[in-house]
Amino acid sequence: MTADAARSNDHPARTPDDGGLAESPFLLACRRRPVPHTPVWFMRQAGRSLPEYLRVREGVPMLESCTRPDMIVEITMQPVRRYAVDAAIFYSDIMVPLRAVGVDLDIKPGVGPVIADPVRDAAGLDVLRPLSPDDVPYVTEAVGGLVGELGATPLIGFAGGPFTLASYLIEGGPSKNQERTKAMMYGEPRLWDRLMERLTDLTIAFLKVQIAAGASAVQVFDSWVGAVAAQDYRESVLPHARRIFAEIEPLGVPRIHFGVGTGELLGLMGEAGADVVGVDWRVPLDEAVSRVEPGKALQGNLDPAVLFAPWEIVERRARDVLARGRTAEGHIFNLGHGVLPSMDPDVLARLADLVHEASSEDPR
Ligand code: CP3
Repeated sequence: MTADAARSNDHPARTPDDGGLAESPFLLACRRRPVPHTPVWFMRQAGRSLPEYLRVREGVPMLESCTRPDMIVEITMQPVRRYAVDAAIFYSDIMVPLRAVGVDLDIKPGVGPVIADPVRDAAGLDVLRPLSPDDVPYVTEAVGGLVGELGATPLIGFAGGPFTLASYLIEGGPSKNQERTKAMMYGEPRLWDRLMERLTDLTIAFLKVQIAAGASAVQVFDSWVGAVAAQDYRESVLPHARRIFAEIEPLGVPRIHFGVGTGELLGLMGEAGADVVGVDWRVPLDEAVSRVEPGKALQGNLDPAVLFAPWEIVERRARDVLARGRTAEGHIFNLGHGVLPSMDPDVLARLADLVHEASSEDPR
């Protein structure tokens, strides 16, 4: 694809029959098709655990790095060069579309996203205007560049889920108990729904930009939605999550839905309509199979902290994840949450190789 085509907003989604993507084990597993080996990638595989990342980022604030196409391409490629991963994840952040429509926010090292004026009333919604592709030209340009570099390796685009985005906006930053967020959800359901509608629109628009530029799959990170009880998820989150996956469906790329601490929500997260449900490390995959409706692949779910144990333990646990993953209609190996900053990249490299070797001995 030419750079001009990549930049054009009406460029059609990359179809799986070009560039060798049709044989991508990652895309096949998302579609619950036979694979030569279990595909593997790691959430947060780009970033602070890599010395080459720290070097590139020196002196450049996090959000600025997400607006520089050359930097985005380089950082996205770094883990692909190091590990035998079956997919790349676009280097960006769930806060980027909020920043792009004008929300005053920063990502503070060691803290996370911090919002200057938290959204606590109807007037606060005004800042959340619709996102147009022209607001994020650097995303379109970087995805286009990556598609060329990646060849037969698919690029996963992503966005934050509406609960997780709402939680940062309402709390003003990271929160352990999500008390203000839940207070709005319980106490001001109409305001909550209006906020969730705008965030859902933003997520859909951000995903569409990435798919139009050539992303082969997308993941919605509703990382903190595990704070919500199933009944409240059904009433206050599910309708919005459903709309995301329904609006992305016609674009024809696999959709992954992930959250942390979502054992009680896995069935509902499947109902939301994604092709793949991401599972954290708290629920074994064979148990997750019984919680999620048929017709879904699963992604997960080695406890990231296991990688700090001796290799024999890592290997035994990884083989256990693979064995349980075989009970699913499709399995993408991943960690149960993101790579931790202090993780040894060599252990991740060894783990990716192990997943390939162990699963190709007996392909599904
Ligand atoms: O390989 C990748 O996944 C890189 C792309 C990526 C980043 N953030 C880059 C990043 C992705 C997919 C995200 C998603 C993201 N961002 C989530 C969902 C995933 C999850 O972990 O559940 C969330 C909740 C955020 C918000 C956010 N941004 C947090 C909590 C932090 C960490 C703050 C800290 O320093 O402890 C960030 C910053 C961030 N996003 C970094 C990276 C590489 C680190 C910033 C740095 O290097 O200075």
